[in-house]
Amino acid sequence: MSGTERQREIYRRWAPVYDPIYARILRRAHRHLAQVAGRHGGDVLEIGVGTGLGLPYYPSACRVIGIDVSREMLERAKARTARHCLRNVASLQIMDAHHLDFPADTFDVVTLPFVLTLIEAPDVVLRECARVVRPEGLILIASRISRGGPLQTRVERTFEPLARRCGLSAAFHLSRIESWCEAERLAHVDQVENLDLAGFFKLVALRPFGNAALRS
Ligand SMILES: C[S@@+](CC[C@H](N)C(=O)[O-])C[C@H]1O[C@@H](n2cnc3c(N)ncnc32)[C@H](O)[C@@H]1O
Repeated sequence: MSGTERQREIYRRWAPVYDPIYARILRRAHRHLAQVAGRHGGDVLEIGVGTGLGLPYYPSACRVIGIDVSREMLERAKARTARHCLRNVASLQIMDAHHLDFPADTFDVVTLPFVLTLIEAPDVVLRECARVVRPEGLILIASRISRGGPLQTRVERTFEPLARRCGLSAAFHLSRIESWCEAERLAHVDQVENLDLAGFFKLVALRPFGNAALRS
């Protein structure tokens, strides 16, 4: 079973219980992420949209497309969109973030709420984000991301196998994103912001260099 198939299977089981467990915990992060995206405006792609907990927070001026590999999670996102009459949600589609079915330079903002750290090949997904975002755009990653001191790294590594089995991630260091930026030179880290007082969740904003970088 590939990593993506495993995620699909795990989130099939998470779907009925996801909202009661996560809605409150993630509310602040979802709201802030959508506000930052909204300030940048325009066409937004939300990767790993899940049950759509973040969708009601995007300003009405944004036109949002959400994608996810889990049909069961997406069904709930569709129900939420209808329930809240979210006219700015243009479509919710089954799609794997490793192979985005959009032309280059399609979106002003690509958001990845609580998904990049779970994904099989984050480097591939970031490359796809850099391809579909417009040159002046923004890639926004909200997740449990740590700066990875030695003690913290030991604790995270201990819990990682259990977290993975639950479709979560215990260990994802900011340096992984920074190294990708260094290696690929498709985007740079513009800002890192704590989303809670403990700095448990972070918002990482990447600015792309534009698709000329992808072609060279
Ligand atoms: C922790 S949930 C986050 C859901 C939502 N973004 C939120 O913040 O509530 C992770 C979501 O990512 C989706 N996912 C996992 N791997 C994916 C992939 N390769 N492409 C697209 N979505 C994926 C899962 O199906 C799940 O809905």
